[in-house]
Amino acid sequence: GRSNSHIFFIFGASGDLAKKKIYPALWWLYRDGFLPEHIRIIGYARSQLTIEKIFENAKKFMKVQEDEHEIFEKFVSINSYINGSYDNKEDFEKLNNEANKLSKQESAHRLFYLALPPSVYESVTELISLHCRPKSPGWLRLIVEKPFGKDLESSNKLSTHLSKFFTEEEIYRIDHYLGKEMVQNIIVLRFANQILSRVWNRDSIAAVIIIFKEDIGTQGRGGYFDEFGIIRDVIQNHLMQILSIVAMEKPNSTKGEDIRDEKVKVLRSVLPIKPEDVVIGQYVGDKDSKDPERQQGYLDDKGVPKDSTTPTYAQVILSINNERWAGVPFILRAGKALNEKKAEIRIQFRDSPGGMFEEDASQQDSNHKLARDELVIRVQPNEAIYLKVNTKRPGDMGFSIEETELDLTYGQRYEGVKLPDAYERLILDVFMGSKINFVRSDELQEAWRIVDPILAEIEKKNIPMIRYKFGSFGIREAFDAAAKHGYIFRGTYVWKNERSA
Ligand code: BG6
Repeated sequence: GRSNSHIFFIFGASGDLAKKKIYPALWWLYRDGFLPEHIRIIGYARSQLTIEKIFENAKKFMKVQEDEHEIFEKFVSINSYINGSYDNKEDFEKLNNEANKLSKQESAHRLFYLALPPSVYESVTELISLHCRPKSPGWLRLIVEKPFGKDLESSNKLSTHLSKFFTEEEIYRIDHYLGKEMVQNIIVLRFANQILSRVWNRDSIAAVIIIFKEDIGTQGRGGYFDEFGIIRDVIQNHLMQILSIVAMEKPNSTKGEDIRDEKVKVLRSVLPIKPEDVVIGQYVGDKDSKDPERQQGYLDDKGVPKDSTTPTYAQVILSINNERWAGVPFILRAGKALNEKKAEIRIQFRDSPGGMFEEDASQQDSNHKLARDELVIRVQPNEAIYLKVNTKRPGDMGFSIEETELDLTYGQRYEGVKLPDAYERLILDVFMGSKINFVRSDELQEAWRIVDPILAEIEKKNIPMIRYKFGSFGIREAFDAAAKHGYIFRGTYVWKNERSA
């Protein structure tokens, strides 16, 4: 007989994530020949919709090219949409029957993507497990999107619920930052280069900072966002995941379990965050801006209560209590409604000792010190790795020193190479059964353990909320706190000819 077919279910098919990320990723995978031959995609949500309507909305994110119309029509033809409730057994039985009809195989492998509000997670997962399992030998894989709870307790409750209905093997907790090229590259950079692995420790590194900036506000997502805030939305997951890969010990192999073992181990060494090492902020509209979006503050978002104290900006400084990192601050900083969209990791090295160049104060900054070396991994936009170093000022007759960079900007070095979208890679991983880039339940638990006490302090309003204008560079108090912990930002470095890709 023919090989086993697959069915990919999208729960929440009418939502934002489905439209912007999941349907486009499936389309690109299909177009590039990565999806299995016999596959059906079934969208499911409450609204009375049609698949045509869904594609109408998703189309602008799918970027279908002129010469792709034929294959796009084929893609459309493997898609269906079914509407139904999220808590009614009959609807799930109906879905199961429809799925069997469509795939003509009761043992087709089934993948379920849950792009749903947390309030319906429990009922949906239970009903999937009870009514939509494939017949043997078909397997089931469940892709769970955040939020995985909103604190340690609710996250554990959700995990307990899921474990009643699914094996850990079946669960794929997605964190789309793990699907980004530069995040995946950290492991190679660190462990395939002696020149980096030898200095990757407290002897050489003064501070690590992981930065997430967006130049948009909540844009109508205020209703969701207000319940969570930037720490749960970005820091607890995306930035903490990056931290664990930057800081972990060398895994035994590239196997998923070996890597995840090391990630969770380093998270266990993170000490509780002290309230004084936290800075939080909320954006206000910039009345002088010509851009109507920037005139709107967070509290102007219709979904946000007028007296909300939810942070849209936060910086937390973590310490890792192990032999490699004791004393090195790990600064996690994230903010919405800032001046630019950017995500990057900065590894700042210690001052070079023995001041041979430091007598000539006129050539150095006011501290008469050389600038520190710094390795920057720019996750987005315009992926790059660059190392800030000191060089002799070109052509200078003496020894004057200038800051410059050793530059690996992908747009130049790898011109024309296509970097797949994070969701494309991760969905493909699920088809392949690869868990390297998914979050294990113990990692999740540790990440909550680390931020939980701080979330409680914020809820009790024990941490002052700083207002910042939409479009700001950042918050002064956060820069000061980073400096106090030893991350030095001099502002003297200028990348002279940064070419944008
Ligand atoms: C999501 C957050 O997980 O990540 C959003 O919920 C945020 O608030 C988004 O905008 C950022 O993702 P990316 O890939 O655009 O950096």
